[in-house]
This record gives sequence, C-alpha cells and structure tokens, in this order.
Amino acid sequence: MLPPEMDQVISFRDAMARFPSGVTIVTTVDADGKSWGFTASAFCSVSVDPALILVCLSTGAECHPVFAEAEHWVVHIIHADQVDLALRFATRGADKFAGGSFEPDHRGLPRLSGSSITLDCSTYARHPGGDHTILVGAVSACFQGNPPPTVYRDRAFHALTQL
Ligand SMILES: Cc1cc2nc3c(=O)[nH]c(=O)nc-3n(C[C@H](O)[C@H](O)[C@H](O)COP(=O)(O)O)c2cc1C
Repeated sequence: MLPPEMDQVISFRDAMARFPSGVTIVTTVDADGKSWGFTASAFCSVSVDPALILVCLSTGAECHPVFAEAEHWVVHIIHADQVDLALRFATRGADKFAGGSFEPDHRGLPRLSGSSITLDCSTYARHPGGDHTILVGAVSACFQGNPPPTVYRDRAFHALTQL
C-alpha cells in the first residue's frame, strides 16, 4: 500500500472497479413474451420528483436490442444469497431464468421476490453513452425484502458493515 500522499497512475477500468456499488439484476420481456435480463452495477438514482433512476447497458449486450425497445422493466437490488444469480445474469448465453426464481409480476414482467429492493420502472428516456446506452427509468413502485444489499468492489462481492 502506498502512503496516502503518493498517487499511482491506474487505468480507467481499475479506477472504476475501486468504486463500491450495489449490484442489480434488470429484467423485462420482449414482444413475444420471452424474458431477458442482465446484471448491472452501473445504476443510480437520478431524480426524486419525478422518481427516476438510471442503469447503463452495453451496446454489445445480447439483450441490448430488447431493452432499446422495452417500455417496462424491473430493477432488483440483490443481496448475498443472490450472488450466484447475478453471476448467471452476467453470463451471455446462460439460461438466466432457469430455476424458478422468477414469477410474472402485475405487468407480466419477470419478478424476483425477496430482493433487497425491487423497483418497477417504465422507460423515461434513453441516451447514448459511449459504448453503453443510459436507460432512464421512471419508478412507479418500490418494494423492500429482508437482507441488506451486497456490495461490489474490486471485482468481488462484499458484505456491508456499519462503521
Ligand atoms: C457485478 C457485475 C456488474 C456488471 N455491471 C454491468 C453494467 O452496469 N452494465 C452492463 O452493460 N454490463 C454489466 N455487467 C456485465 C453484464 O451483466 C453481462 O455482460 C451480461 O451478460 C450482458 O447481457 P447479455 O447476456 O444479454 O449479453 C456486469 C457484470 C457483473 C458481474
């Protein structure tokens, strides 16, 4: 470890990897009723009134064309017991919805019950963001499960502890 007054040059990727964030699983359905989803840590609150959040999706993701059209989606903020699921949703070509963890919600979207926080979203805006698309969602309902969110930093999952 360097002394605090000495700054080391690191890559942009490594700099961003140092930043702690929650991890989300974002889900939707396409026009044929097929379920789609991806894991995202590039998620944050945007506005309180109206209630808006954003999530950034790689333009290279297989599910990108679906989310580029989707009007409604669900953001699940995951807890420690959902880490394996988050890794599955980060794996291209995986059978992401296998295992029966998801049930259709009131809008017919795949809903993972018992996440730390679940947000029902409708597309408010989409913005180009380099090699990602910034999906801005209007939040119509928020739900809380029991376990606290897990934290992702330095390419690993961590438990939260209060200082
Ligand atoms: C902890 C974690 C966080 C991730 N965050 C993002 C993210 O914010 N945006 C993104 O586009 N991909 C992110 N990914 C990668 C996608 O989840 C992964 O590329 C996914 O497979 C893309 O969907 P696809 O299977 O439809 O291609 C993350 C992966 C992990 C493990």
